[in-house]
Amino acid sequence: METARIGIIGGGLMGREVAAALGRWFVLDNFPVRAELTAVCDLSGKAREWFRQIPTVRLLTADHHELLASADVDVVYVAVPHNLHEAIYLDVLKAGKDLFAEKPFGIDLAAARRIAAAAAESGRFVRCSSEFPFLPGVQRAYALAREGRLGRLLEVRSGFHHSSDLDPAKPVNWKRQVKTCGEIGVMGDLGMHTVHVPFRLGWFPKRVYAQLQKVYHERPDGKGGMVPCDTWDNALLHTEFEFGGGEVPMRFEMKRLAPGETNTWFLEILGTDGGVKYSTKEPKTLWTFRRGGEQVWQRTDLGFHGPFPTITGAIFEPGFPDCFLQMWASYLAERAGRLDGRFGCVTPGEAVRSHELFAAALASHRSKSAVAL
Ligand SMILES: NC(=O)c1ccc[n+]([C@@H]2O[C@H](COP(=O)([O-])OP(=O)(O)OC[C@H]3O[C@@H](n4cnc5c(N)ncnc54)[C@H](O)[C@@H]3O)[C@@H](O)[C@H]2O)c1
Repeated sequence: METARIGIIGGGLMGREVAAALGRWFVLDNFPVRAELTAVCDLSGKAREWFRQIPTVRLLTADHHELLASADVDVVYVAVPHNLHEAIYLDVLKAGKDLFAEKPFGIDLAAARRIAAAAAESGRFVRCSSEFPFLPGVQRAYALAREGRLGRLLEVRSGFHHSSDLDPAKPVNWKRQVKTCGEIGVMGDLGMHTVHVPFRLGWFPKRVYAQLQKVYHERPDGKGGMVPCDTWDNALLHTEFEFGGGEVPMRFEMKRLAPGETNTWFLEILGTDGGVKYSTKEPKTLWTFRRGGEQVWQRTDLGFHGPFPTITGAIFEPGFPDCFLQMWASYLAERAGRLDGRFGCVTPGEAVRSHELFAAALASHRSKSAVAL
């Protein structure tokens, strides 16, 4: 069995999440690739120390060039602030390693295009992170839409709601400032999660009308002062795409200020013959509609059926760590040529198209008009 040796650059929130996924790789049943975390790079000594508890980690460094020079690393996962994406992603490719890049795949459209061009030129295997489509409920919704069982499409709503910024006393961090998060703000944070399934279905917006909101303009700096907080908090992108000879409205919702929502990802697709709704708010519930005599939405209690089989009992409930593990399985299966028709991670081309949408959304908000893509 092939072993993929993984290095992480950026051992913060998501770097640790990756270590957790790789640490329980044996949960995957009969998976063709073994995964091993061998090296971690982070500027912070405290962040690096956390990884000492993982016996397979042989290199801890503050210099990502040292990690990239290691012959003990085949695939590099990068989870750093958005202003550092381009330089570090390009270094990974130059070092001849495969790349699993965190979203939004560069701080803006120009960066995303340069990264995608370098990826194509390098011939390395490059994908971008987006884990929610690997939940069983989302896979069911995707299959219903792909198989054309919903009839003529009426509308699509895809969103991701947080309440992480509702508290004005929460200190600023890199995700709240344009210089490190990007001008696209919340779209860079949450947008890739909302476009992955629609884009994979071939539903690309033709035009967008965007409503962007900035509510808190400054935040505590954690040292007694206040600093600017200049990113967009909430974004509603009203778009339409061509389908079956007509145009279908599709709304993308990305919110850091959504009262009552901790981390709610949802997708709703309505058609004339059927409909499907899924939300992580009710992670084991799938709502489906079939046109008939009466107007009935049916609730299905889902089991534990991700795209890749696991040892977990079929009746148990899936959660965030499970879809994250499934996403990694998808990345390594596709890299090994073993995806076998299952759902794949975001491609560089899809990541660039997401940036095209977000750039058009910024232009739309500025002009207060719909912008063609
Ligand atoms: N897929 C998801 O669900 C998800 C969730 C949250 C964040 N993200 C993405 O992950 C990335 C990181 O976000 P996070 O929440 O983990 O951030 P974080 O702030 O928790 O961690 C970032 C880490 O990068 C380190 N770092 C900064 N510069 C570095 C450098 N030059 N070399 C090495 N390490 C460096 C920091 O010390 C920090 O530990 C972003 O692109 C973000 O959009 C994805």
